[in-house]
Amino acid sequence: MTLKKKKKNKPWAGRFSTGSSKILEDFTESISFDQRLAFYDVKASIAHTLMMKRTKIITGWEAEKIINGLSKIMNLVQKNRFKFSKNFEDVHMNIESYLVKLVGEVGKKLHTARSRNDQVAVDMMLYLKDESVLIINLIKNLQKSLLAISRKSIKIIIPGYTHLKQGQPILLAHFFLSYFFKFQRDLDKFRKSQMSLNVLPLGAGAMAGVNYATDRKYLARLLKFSHISENSMDTVSQRDYIIEFIFCCSMVAMHLSRLAEDLIIFNSDEFNYVEIADAFTTGSSIMPNKKNPDVLELVRGKSSKILGNLSGIFTLLKGLPTSYNRDLQEDKKILFETIDYIKPMLQITADVLDHISFHADKIKEKMRDGFILAVDIADYLVKKNIPFRQAHYITGSIIKYCIHKKKKIFDLDLKEFKKYSKDFKEDIFSILDYKKSVESKISYGGTSTRSIKKQMQIAKILLNKK
Ligand code: ARG
Repeated sequence: MTLKKKKKNKPWAGRFSTGSSKILEDFTESISFDQRLAFYDVKASIAHTLMMKRTKIITGWEAEKIINGLSKIMNLVQKNRFKFSKNFEDVHMNIESYLVKLVGEVGKKLHTARSRNDQVAVDMMLYLKDESVLIINLIKNLQKSLLAISRKSIKIIIPGYTHLKQGQPILLAHFFLSYFFKFQRDLDKFRKSQMSLNVLPLGAGAMAGVNYATDRKYLARLLKFSHISENSMDTVSQRDYIIEFIFCCSMVAMHLSRLAEDLIIFNSDEFNYVEIADAFTTGSSIMPNKKNPDVLELVRGKSSKILGNLSGIFTLLKGLPTSYNRDLQEDKKILFETIDYIKPMLQITADVLDHISFHADKIKEKMRDGFILAVDIADYLVKKNIPFRQAHYITGSIIKYCIHKKKKIFDLDLKEFKKYSKDFKEDIFSILDYKKSVESKISYGGTSTRSIKKQMQIAKILLNKK
């Protein structure tokens, strides 16, 4: 292969006798994906320039020239008009080379007292600070939808399931609120993970620190970091904040996937509990009868990408020798993809929830046999002073009898009940009622209307918390 003549545009050209191969350039570039960091790259460069001016690493005049050029670049970036070129492998070199074009030789001073290794870390942290706010807002938006649908469904009683088998009657609102509180934990995790984004990496240099008396505290103030990193080698090599962020996204994805799965089941013809609006369902190219919950299936499907990425970022890091290695460039692909997946997943799930209605009549039909009241029957006996284990046995025998005789629990008369325990009295019939069953869950956090209203009240307070 004949190699190109040595190219001047490479920052490392001095050490090299020939240019690089085309395939190397294509293989090593990151500009095709790290250009999304441009805004933060310029922002950090402006702060770095101000710091160099303050510490007299460069003169006031030089700083002014550089900042002038960077401001012009910022303007282009914000208007989406900055032209990224593959000639410069990454966002940092694209911006620096354009700066030199704009302001001349003085632009070449920008990269004093820093390296791309600390530069890329600060860009990523600034970017993630903003993204985590966006994601927190999307989680809140979803929680709002969950609270709204809970309000709409507070009067509907559905079978509560364990093992996907009917267990006990619950308010449908209880089900939706259960997800509200899952997402609340996710939100709290994101908030905690923001602490890891508050430690300034800029100033670490390539890994050893720099030969200048820089003022990192000043940099931290300018870029709104509450702390500065302690060890330059750790600083350029660690990506813990990215792992944490993807972990938080993975928790959200896992919860979204479970919610999607629940709704897919509720939407199945066999259950038929919920109806999703046409705008959020799709048809079949061959079966005219179909109206499918593809959106929810894709939420479930796309979550696997995010969970895979968590494993991906761990795998990327786990074998790296200390400090910076180019492998770390791949962190961006994993992170950006995760963000690009999770945001629409959160949004569309909220939209689907806003467009769901319920088939209350169909839901009632599913509980027709009344077996789901078994715990209430057992607890009735407990109140007559029968130990729970025994009451459980008696009730189980009654259910077995019903199944054998093809009877619903409501078909039994007092004589039949009494065959199993003399403690059954006429008042047994008053408890054979779904609503009563629900309202008798008086324990804190349970499914009674009072308790659900309390949960909603707390949910509302959490939503309004800044
Ligand atoms: N594009 C690089 C990355 O994302 C920037 C840092 C390059 N540093 C280096 N020593 N080659 O990691």
